[in-house]
Amino acid sequence: MKIPKRLRPLVEDGLIDEVISRLMSGKEADVYIVRCGDSIRCAKVYKDAVKRSFKKAAQYQEGRKVRSGRQARAMQKSSNYGRQQQEEIWQNAEVDALSRLGRAGVRVPETFGCVDGVLLMELVTDGDGDVAPRLGDVMMSEEQAIEDHNLMMHYIMLMLCEGIVHGDLSEFNVLVDDDGPVIIDLPQAVNAAANNSAQEMFARDVNNMRRYYGSFAPALLRTQYAKEMWALFEEGNLTPGSTLSGDFGDRNDSADVDSVLEEIKAVMQEEQARQERIREAVEEA
Ligand SMILES: Nc1ncnc2c1ncn2[C@@H]1O[C@H](COP(=O)(O)OP(=O)(O)OP(=O)(O)O)[C@@H](O)[C@H]1O
Ligand SMILES: [Mg+2]
Repeated sequence: MKIPKRLRPLVEDGLIDEVISRLMSGKEADVYIVRCGDSIRCAKVYKDAVKRSFKKAAQYQEGRKVRSGRQARAMQKSSNYGRQQQEEIWQNAEVDALSRLGRAGVRVPETFGCVDGVLLMELVTDGDGDVAPRLGDVMMSEEQAIEDHNLMMHYIMLMLCEGIVHGDLSEFNVLVDDDGPVIIDLPQAVNAAANNSAQEMFARDVNNMRRYYGSFAPALLRTQYAKEMWALFEEGNLTPGSTLSGDFGDRNDSADVDSVLEEIKAVMQEEQARQERIREAVEEA
């Protein structure tokens, strides 16, 4: 295909040899399949900050380290320089998070650098070499859902041990390859210890996963991993080797009955949406 403008510098520098196709155009980025030497990779081109919500970005960026006082002042003023800095921090946050998580044992795409607002990374593929589907497009048996949910909780625990909360974890930001779930899309990752909204975002992330896998294995809807992990984290007792039970003391509280009902409602809505997708696919065919 014709080389998109934003990828030209990388082609000129020899980082990319060929742009094969555009994979996705998301809210925050365009994603391309590219060839680098003999390897097929993925290039995520970040859209301009103006196209993203700055208010939301501010909540996510709380607790992030900036390099100098000048940088912090510029960011506050939202000057051009400040915008550019904020942009760089946003992009670097994704590479940083991906490499830290990869080292910690969380299954994420391997990265090959971030240049001129383009992140080069491993293209996650299925057994046939096709681009891996998103979790939200995958149906699975109850057994498989329990196994993958378990693995996902383990990954989330490893992330929290690293001090990272994804902040936007859902079935749309998880791909599924032959070895199970792969977590993607981390520019908004937050610092677990320094961000006041971290606990809330953490619970939302964990409970999104519980809801999705729970739609195939309803027993999962009763688990309380978010509370269990956060309590251990706050006590300073969460380690990569911690064993989790999914139980949490206050299960019979009325608040929990409410949350189970909410989950059931969410699962029913999920099922309705799935039926609709199936109907649409049948109609299209
Ligand atoms: N490493 C990868 N391998 C395969 N596919 C990928 C990879 N990274 C991203 N994708 C595909 O591109 C889509 C968009 O990527 P990502 O979620 O990182 O960007 P985004 O702009 O935040 O998108 P959205 O707004 O849809 O969440 C993903 O849902 C996935 O289908
Ligand atoms: Mg995404």
